[in-house]
Amino acid sequence: MNLFPRCDRSPAWAALQDHFRLEGRQFDLREAFAREPRRFEDWSLQAPEVLADLSKNRISTATLQLLLQLARDCGLEAQREAMFQGEAINHTEGRAVLHTALRAPQGQAPHGDEVQASLQRMLAFAESVRADDRGFSDVVHIGIGGSDLGPAMVVQALQSCVKPGLRLHFVSNVDGHDLAGVLRDLKPASTLFIVASKTFTTQETLANARAAKAWFLQQGGSDIARHFAATTSNAQAAAEFGITTTFGFWDWVGGRYSLWSVIGLPIAIAIGAAGFRELLAGAHAMDGHFRGAPLARNLPVLLGLLDLWYRNFHGFGSRSIAPYHQGLRRLPAYLQQLEMESNGKRVDREGQVLPYATSPVVWGEAGTNGQHAYFQMLHQGTDVIPVEFIAVRQPDFGAHVQGALRECLQDQHTKLLANCLAQSQALMQGKTEAEALGETAPTASRTLATQALARHRSFPGNRPSTTLLLERLSPRSLGALVALYEHRVFVSGALWGINSFDQWGVELGKALCNRLLPRFASGDGGGLDGSTAGLLAHLRGPGPEVSA
Ligand code: F6P
Repeated sequence: MNLFPRCDRSPAWAALQDHFRLEGRQFDLREAFAREPRRFEDWSLQAPEVLADLSKNRISTATLQLLLQLARDCGLEAQREAMFQGEAINHTEGRAVLHTALRAPQGQAPHGDEVQASLQRMLAFAESVRADDRGFSDVVHIGIGGSDLGPAMVVQALQSCVKPGLRLHFVSNVDGHDLAGVLRDLKPASTLFIVASKTFTTQETLANARAAKAWFLQQGGSDIARHFAATTSNAQAAAEFGITTTFGFWDWVGGRYSLWSVIGLPIAIAIGAAGFRELLAGAHAMDGHFRGAPLARNLPVLLGLLDLWYRNFHGFGSRSIAPYHQGLRRLPAYLQQLEMESNGKRVDREGQVLPYATSPVVWGEAGTNGQHAYFQMLHQGTDVIPVEFIAVRQPDFGAHVQGALRECLQDQHTKLLANCLAQSQALMQGKTEAEALGETAPTASRTLATQALARHRSFPGNRPSTTLLLERLSPRSLGALVALYEHRVFVSGALWGINSFDQWGVELGKALCNRLLPRFASGDGGGLDGSTAGLLAHLRGPGPEVSA
């Protein structure tokens, strides 16, 4: 299956190792900016809807040339084409990977007719739910992982486009507190439940769906066909569950790549058919850029190459996502699944154990909140953690924000942007002990030598970051941003020679959970390890028994 060489088997890999030893390791961003007056112009790139500033990264032209050579050695362009053409690149499951076909205009990608038919049916249903005569004020979307994170993130991000009076709720956790909290204020007559599960076998989703149905019937609801819909590729299981309004999709749409399919139904209900088509159009524009732009001016390619450079040469183990937009606060969670479920792999396509690291830990929080929590570590901790800042130039507070309030919030937006720039500046610039010394003199501690205090107050700097700028947070720009991340994950996965499209690592825990469940009723701890048996016994008593 390894038609394409793995990155460490390419001649450019050895050249990169030499380059890192001789130059890369010592690269200093401050010196680079002093040396290159046009560094911003040279290292920034306008991709569809996204302006990317890569200049505050530890990369030189020589590094880039070698990384581009690595990409060519690994057949990145051919690998990319294999995905777009619908080859079964998810070889451990024998599936094509065609989420790009979901956002392509008819005739420009495989499966055009079925994609358009499915889209039209889903959008027509979404519009009917939005229509006042249906009387739906609340939509409860039940799903988990790829059947939750994408729709939940997008609906939250596009709140300003959501139809007034319509509330969307997302329930994912098997923890009953999740559903209970949502149901508290709902009425069955005005509620639509969407059960979203590609497989329709996922424990959490089925448990929540069962509970939602029980609540609906208990509250006097009766018309399941009207109040429950399913988005799934297993229509039979949905029918057995009692849901007849079903929207299907295909095995060539991976769970974490499925928000463009019928799994996006809550998005379409929230922002309407036209908005959903804009989301698709933004993603399609990014697909065109990824597929057509030369590698050296191709944003997903450049980001993927940087990821590999940082992970495998600098040894950076994580990347922090800092969206400076409250609407994007779930983006880090969404990206965790996209990147870590895709590239958290330890064997190559042939099953050989890899001699190098793959997915970094991806994490983050909306700015400026993160600044008052973990940015301390980003600035002065022992690990270098590249940060990805995402900012939106024009805010969109909604029509209800007028007059004095509007002025206040506009001013806050300027503060938000200034914070965003200041953080990337501080990470890069740092502050020397000599500079800190100048500040410490008047307030020097009595117990700590001035020099030591200056060290506490100094910043090493040279900490890399990327800034992504959107003009506005709109369906189109969000579509482009998400597609950018999808393709960037593809690039690093392709060079690492792994299958970015399976997720066997989630199976063992699921299987063990199913085996443990009856033991909560029986109390049988036989054959279990001491820790699990001890915890089970503790959880079972002396309180009321937990039913299986
Ligand atoms: O967590 C594993 C996983 O299979 C994800 O890949 C997927 O997005 C999620 O579970 C939900 O699966 P389903 O849509 O089949 O319920």
